[in-house]
Amino acid sequence: MPDQKQFVVTPWKVEGAVDYEKLVKDFGTQLIDDRLRARITKKAGFSNPLLSRRVFYSHRDLGWLLDMYDKGEEFFLYTGRGPSGGTHLGHIIPYTFNKYLQDAYDAELWFQVTDDEKYLVKELEQEEISEFARQNIADFIACGFDPKKTHVLLDSQCIKTLYPIALKIAKRTTFSTAKAVFGFTNETNVGLPFFTALQAAPCFLPSVLHKRNIPCLIPAAIDQDPYWRIARDVAPKLGFHKPAAIHCKFISGLGKGGKMSSSEPETTIFMDDSPTVIKQKVMRSFTGGAPTEEQQRLEGGDPSICPVYSYYTYLFAKSDAELQKIFDECEEGELMCGPDKTRLAGRVAAFVSDFQKKKQKALKRVDDFLFREEDFT
Ligand code: TRP
Repeated sequence: MPDQKQFVVTPWKVEGAVDYEKLVKDFGTQLIDDRLRARITKKAGFSNPLLSRRVFYSHRDLGWLLDMYDKGEEFFLYTGRGPSGGTHLGHIIPYTFNKYLQDAYDAELWFQVTDDEKYLVKELEQEEISEFARQNIADFIACGFDPKKTHVLLDSQCIKTLYPIALKIAKRTTFSTAKAVFGFTNETNVGLPFFTALQAAPCFLPSVLHKRNIPCLIPAAIDQDPYWRIARDVAPKLGFHKPAAIHCKFISGLGKGGKMSSSEPETTIFMDDSPTVIKQKVMRSFTGGAPTEEQQRLEGGDPSICPVYSYYTYLFAKSDAELQKIFDECEEGELMCGPDKTRLAGRVAAFVSDFQKKKQKALKRVDDFLFREEDFT
């Protein structure tokens, strides 16, 4: 039996019960403190639950980036998606935080779609990946990004632009560093070590295109941090600022523990699921409830391990007060899992149907968002 305390987090594999505080120590990042949270909230004019409830919880150089901004140096945002399947809530939740930051700082946003990476790591044909990529881009656009300030980098299509920068990064990254950071072995195909430079490249691309050194902030799940270690290592050697990062935890699936993942469709809410399917999935969710109703009335439930409760914390509670009420009533044994799930299912289904309407429009606008080098020359 593997030790309960053991967990693995790499960009391609997340396993076991993740200890997020330990990850901060292992990766050498910092926890976001109240001051940093307050600075962002003040600038945005309102608080974002993903920040106040510590889903985005760790960072690199966020204080430095905000100081630069206060001195008049605007930054750009960089995030991305590997197109290996349909978009689910676990993707959309962090996208909404990117949108919050784009609006708060009026920032340009770069979205990398790594069709090359997914071909290297998944058993998928290139044609299948291209179709996922188009759908994934529309899902991203549907979150409301400003087309004038948002650029989508589809790797296979933009390789001519990315390649010179990736080469510069690759030349200055040794295999021994890449092995230490990503855990490559002799069985790793030779595409992946070079790909690491391609995912680092967008950290510097806007500086190259705009011909001035622009700070970068990367909002992403913490499993992507190894790429930023490579980028930060190389940045001073190439005369760029080190990219700053703001990391989120994984969005839970509806099963017991573990992140939401396309490879477990039963516990994943896909953005193209119908209301009926969503209701079924939520009603079958694991919860922090007691084995019987009677026991739950007596002893209460445990919201801290409950995926249903976690969905309220991310996006689906109407206010902090409502969230607190749900927590207290669950712990006190006043709230039963059935009605709690029914309420969540209704909210998620409404959110997803509204999203689907936006996506239909977004599908027609994919080309407007795709990066074109001509626009910058
Ligand atoms: N590797 C990421 C994935 O598999 C995709 C990605 C590329 C990304 N660039 C990024 C994610 C920047 C976050 C930030 O999903």
